[in-house]
Amino acid sequence: MRRLFVAGGAGFIGSNFIRQVLAGRSGVEVVNFDALTYAGNPDNLREIAGDGRYAFVHGNVADAAAVAEAMRGCDAVVNFAAESHVDRSIHDASDFIETNVRGAYNVLAAARDLGIGRVLHISTDEVYGPADREHPRREGDAFAPRSPYAASKAAGDMMCHAFAETHGLAVIVARPANNVGPYQYPEKAVPLFVTNALDGQPLPVYGEGLQERDRLYVDDCVRALLLLLERGEPGEAYNIQADNHRPNIDVARAILDLLDKPYALIQFVDDREGHDPCYWMDSSKVRALGWQPDLGFEAAIERTVRWYRDNRWWWEKIKSGEFRAYYERQYGRRLATARPYAG
Ligand code: NAD
Ligand code: DAU
Repeated sequence: MRRLFVAGGAGFIGSNFIRQVLAGRSGVEVVNFDALTYAGNPDNLREIAGDGRYAFVHGNVADAAAVAEAMRGCDAVVNFAAESHVDRSIHDASDFIETNVRGAYNVLAAARDLGIGRVLHISTDEVYGPADREHPRREGDAFAPRSPYAASKAAGDMMCHAFAETHGLAVIVARPANNVGPYQYPEKAVPLFVTNALDGQPLPVYGEGLQERDRLYVDDCVRALLLLLERGEPGEAYNIQADNHRPNIDVARAILDLLDKPYALIQFVDDREGHDPCYWMDSSKVRALGWQPDLGFEAAIERTVRWYRDNRWWWEKIKSGEFRAYYERQYGRRLATARPYAG
């Protein structure tokens, strides 16, 4: 791998991935192709913007010609580009279809046409639908997505399989669980809870806070992705899970404990429509390649909280922009009718 095309590298996982590639693979150049939607942020890669091995191309994966043009000369591809927030897909899923389905297709088609030797597509555990510890999903299991976001990701994931079978494209699919860590847009639960707590604002916990998510530290996820890019079997999918599952209410309490803030900041608000109770995958396939997570739940949350506490410059800018209108639409009525914490 000499020149890597990364789509969606200005977002949360993509920017952490690019940082790790440039730090750990001295001979590799990176082309970051990103539309800079509300979730894409040049600040996420501020410290490497002047690196001679890094190039940024402002472009949309829904634009087939632009994708092919930027990919020319690359020998490997990673696709992170997506509309990634479940709540936004409940309001309007049209961008999700454009990016997560049409965009995924364009990236695969360009890679096929240019004879790219290795493609890694980032899917999600949500394609399987709800599952629990007793019934972990394996890579060959049927998909049962329940949110418009998950359905769009399932379509992109299946398109990868179709390209491997039909066109012989060397595409590998990664299905990570819920990531936490630096540079995650503060619409997602963990950065929202941490930054609200730092500002003394309520933490809006959906329903009773009993839904569970894995909390996979982003550096651990990125190590798994690099391993799959370099050593994954073409045509195969791989689950990535740290087994750090906790109910959301425990996550909210852990954050407040770390920041020495009162549990009274927790507000139980109307639940997400179609809220999946839990995802659980068997990740033995990626572990058999030598991967395991370094951080358990407590360390992952502690490191994450510390980063947001120490990097107000990054999130204060975001929360004063487009975010305000989104917050009002998503939480205005919910918070007005919230139930207080009484633990
Ligand atoms: P994110 O929302 O933080 O970043 C998405 C990036 O894609 C942004 O930089 C955005 O500008 C870019 N983008 C969006 N639409 C685009 C388009 N049409 N053309 C080009 N670029 C576009 O997302 P993330 O949390 O970093 O997730 C990255 C990938 O991993 C996504 O595919 C997501 O579905 C998947 N995933 C995320 C998680 C998680 O916990 N964050 C877990 C599993 C899978
Ligand atoms: O599981 C992988 C998925 O993880 C990725 O595919 C998605 O791109 C990513 O956004 C994430 O999806 P979730 O829906 O799990 O993440 P979110 O942070 O939105 O929500 C995490 C949990 O917290 C979920 O059970 C809903 C709950 N929640 C969320 C928000 C935003 C709340 O209780 N309150 C909130 O305000």
